[in-house]
Amino acid sequence: MELDPDELSSLYRTLAGAVVPRPIAWVSTTTSDGVDNLAPYSFFNVVSVAPPVVMFAPVNDDDAPEGLKDTPRNVRATEEFVVNVVTEPLAESMNATSATLPAGESEFDDTGLARADSRTVTPPRVAETDVAFECSLYEMVAVGDSTMILGEVEWVHVADEVTTDGKLDTTKLDAVGRLSGSRYTTIEDQFALERPP
Ligand SMILES: Cc1cc2nc3c(=O)[nH]c(=O)nc-3n(C[C@H](O)[C@H](O)[C@H](O)COP(=O)(O)O)c2cc1C
Repeated sequence: MELDPDELSSLYRTLAGAVVPRPIAWVSTTTSDGVDNLAPYSFFNVVSVAPPVVMFAPVNDDDAPEGLKDTPRNVRATEEFVVNVVTEPLAESMNATSATLPAGESEFDDTGLARADSRTVTPPRVAETDVAFECSLYEMVAVGDSTMILGEVEWVHVADEVTTDGKLDTTKLDAVGRLSGSRYTTIEDQFALERPP
C-alpha cells in the first residue's frame, strides 16, 4: 500500500497506528478561576534535556471556545501545567478524564482522583502518580490543525517506589503506552541492546 496524504481525507489512522507505543502526558492545568483540569495527550515527547523541555500537541477544536480544548486554553492563560506519567493502576482513571466536561467542571472531582500540591506551579499533580513534571510554558506553536505546547520542566516528583540507588528505575515504573484507538500496552516485556561504540 502506498499512501498520498493529498489523496486521503485524514492520515490520522496511519500516523497514530504506526507511531506506537506513544507515551501519554496526563496533563493537569488550572483555570484562571481556580478549576483544576486533567486530560491525557499521547502526542507527547521530550524535546530538550538542557534546558529540560517536553512537548504535547492537542488538536484544535473548532467547537470549543477560542478553538482550543480546555488544556491548551488553560496553558495559554496561566503558562503552567503538570505532566503526570500514566502507570497501569491509573489507566482507567486516565481514560475517564478524557471525557468532555464543561469547562467549569474538574476531571479530578468527576473521577474522584486525589490531588497533591505542586512545588513550583499552581496546577496540582495526580496524588497517585509515580512521576510528575511541573512545567512552565516555553512556547506554543501552531502546527497544522494542532497546537504544540512546549514546557520547561521546573520541578520533578519521583516516588521512592520507582527508584533504585536514588535514581529513576524504568523497570519499576509500570508506564502505559497508547496504541491505536482504545488499545494500550505496558512495558513489562523489556529487553536490552548494548549500543555500538
Ligand atoms: C490515551 C489518550 C490520548 C489522547 N491523546 C490526545 C492527543 O494527543 N491530542 C488530542 O487533541 N487529544 C487527545 N486525546 C483526547 C483528549 O484527552 C480529549 O479530547 C479531552 O477531552 C481533552 O480534555 P480537555 O479539553 O480538558 O483538555 C487523548 C485521549 C486519550 C484517552
